Amino acid sequence: MKIFVDTGSIKDIQTIADLGILDGVTTNPSLLAKETGDYRQNLKKICDIVKGPVSGEVTATDFAGMLREGHDIAKIDQHMVVKVPLTRDGIKACKALSGEGIPVNVTLCFSPAQALLAAKAGASYISPFVGRLDDIGTNGMELVRDIVLIYDNYDFKTEVLVASCRGPMHVVEAARLGADIATCPPAVIDALYNHPLTASGLEKFLKDWEKMQAVKA
Ligand code: G3P
Repeated sequence: MKIFVDTGSIKDIQTIADLGILDGVTTNPSLLAKETGDYRQNLKKICDIVKGPVSGEVTATDFAGMLREGHDIAKIDQHMVVKVPLTRDGIKACKALSGEGIPVNVTLCFSPAQALLAAKAGASYISPFVGRLDDIGTNGMELVRDIVLIYDNYDFKTEVLVASCRGPMHVVEAARLGADIATCPPAVIDALYNHPLTASGLEKFLKDWEKMQAVKA
């Protein structure tokens, strides 16, 4: 399964890229608004670091505006993926941009019906928001299960990009269900390798080693 980081922070992206396990980046307007500098230049820097798919989202809500912004985002770098919202105009823009060979990530997906339309419109990625569904008392992972099943039934090539991951178990569950990608905030990626038994086990190994060295000295 691929792991993407969900942030606009170049510093955090560089730190995670240095781990050697990063496959791509997702951003959204809320995440990019937290950063200083020109957002196009920031996205270019991110592409240079990651050299994998980097999603940049349109802010237009009408078809013509989404196409205009989508073309502009795609020009930033060959790794850019245009993110469009799962609305009527978003589906139309997805079909048009995908038809031109521009990869599209359809975002803000909250139902299997929406995911089916995105795949039919040629989306390269569908982004179900699991955390936000959990927030309103539903099971976000049930949506992922449905999408994986539907896409498998019809051999859709759209990749299932599990978004709004709030903790390591979202990532583990996404992997169990056969999702293609999980995109996580930097803290969730850290939580994937941190384990209290690893920390305490390592502490004990090192203490025992020090004791042995002291006896020898
Ligand atoms: O980038 C989209 C998504 O991952 C946002 O997550 O935590 O704001 O629901 P969240």
